Amino acid sequence: MFEGKTLVIIGGTSGIGLRAARLAVQRGARVILGGRDKARLASVVESLGDSAEGYTVDNTDRTSLRDFFARLDRVDGLFTPAASYQVAGFTEQDEEKVRSAFERKFWPQYWTVQAALPVLAPEAGIVLVGGAAGARPVPGAASYAACNSAIEGLARALAVDLAPRRVNVIAPGTLDGELWQSRDPQLRDNAFSHYAQSTLLKRVGTVEDAADAALFLLNNPYMTGATLSPDGGYTLR
Ligand SMILES: NC(=O)c1ccc[n+]([C@@H]2O[C@H](COP(=O)([O-])OP(=O)(O)OC[C@H]3O[C@@H](n4cnc5c(N)ncnc54)[C@H](OP(=O)(O)O)[C@@H]3O)[C@@H](O)[C@H]2O)c1
Repeated sequence: MFEGKTLVIIGGTSGIGLRAARLAVQRGARVILGGRDKARLASVVESLGDSAEGYTVDNTDRTSLRDFFARLDRVDGLFTPAASYQVAGFTEQDEEKVRSAFERKFWPQYWTVQAALPVLAPEAGIVLVGGAAGARPVPGAASYAACNSAIEGLARALAVDLAPRRVNVIAPGTLDGELWQSRDPQLRDNAFSHYAQSTLLKRVGTVEDAADAALFLLNNPYMTGATLSPDGGYTLR
């Protein structure tokens, strides 16, 4: 399905990006991974075998993004899960914290697609990452919710501007992956149990659930401008 295709994953060393890389290699892709931590990149690339390469990149830095894509000739698929933001309540006075979701999740994906353009194949697929909080905000996270909605708007706009390249979004719900495993266990347990009660499918998701949705959008030749929600029905409740 991905035989002979080159897939770039910015944020491919953990969570959704890492699972997408594993699935894509199993399906025949050559994957090129980006992340900030050189040692982590090296170990992930080694675990994926000959079909994987990895280069350091910081997606908050446009020069770093340009240097990353300058190495490549042709990219058939681009997936951009990398993000490292803080969540802030509406009345938060620390402006850096309030802006963090846009600065570290929205704009990095915008600039990543722009930096990739010179090497994106004419019919490439692009998948951005939003989140279920865009459609169903949780209390105390206004700029994060707005950022996720903005990413869906960006994908629709880029689907228009970059056609016949295809641009879509995944908007996952809460997933049991490295991101949550790195957080305080009590906070995680409360969040997981609240999320499970709030979904139709009564469980948190897995990073595989989200990665599989991303690969579907990268591969399907007639999907563009769409948001897929691997969220267990969270946004319907
Ligand atoms: N996990 C969830 O429950 C969940 C739910 C809804 C939405 N999402 C969204 O899904 C996306 C990915 O989440 P995840 O769970 O896969 O996260 P994760 O496990 O923390 O993985 C993040 C990846 O991005 C890389 N990265 C972080 N900051 C970067 C930067 N500035 N430049 C380049 N690479 C960077 C990390 O590697 P380095 O640290 O080495 O750079 C890592 O490979 C995020 O946008 C998140 O908001 C996640």
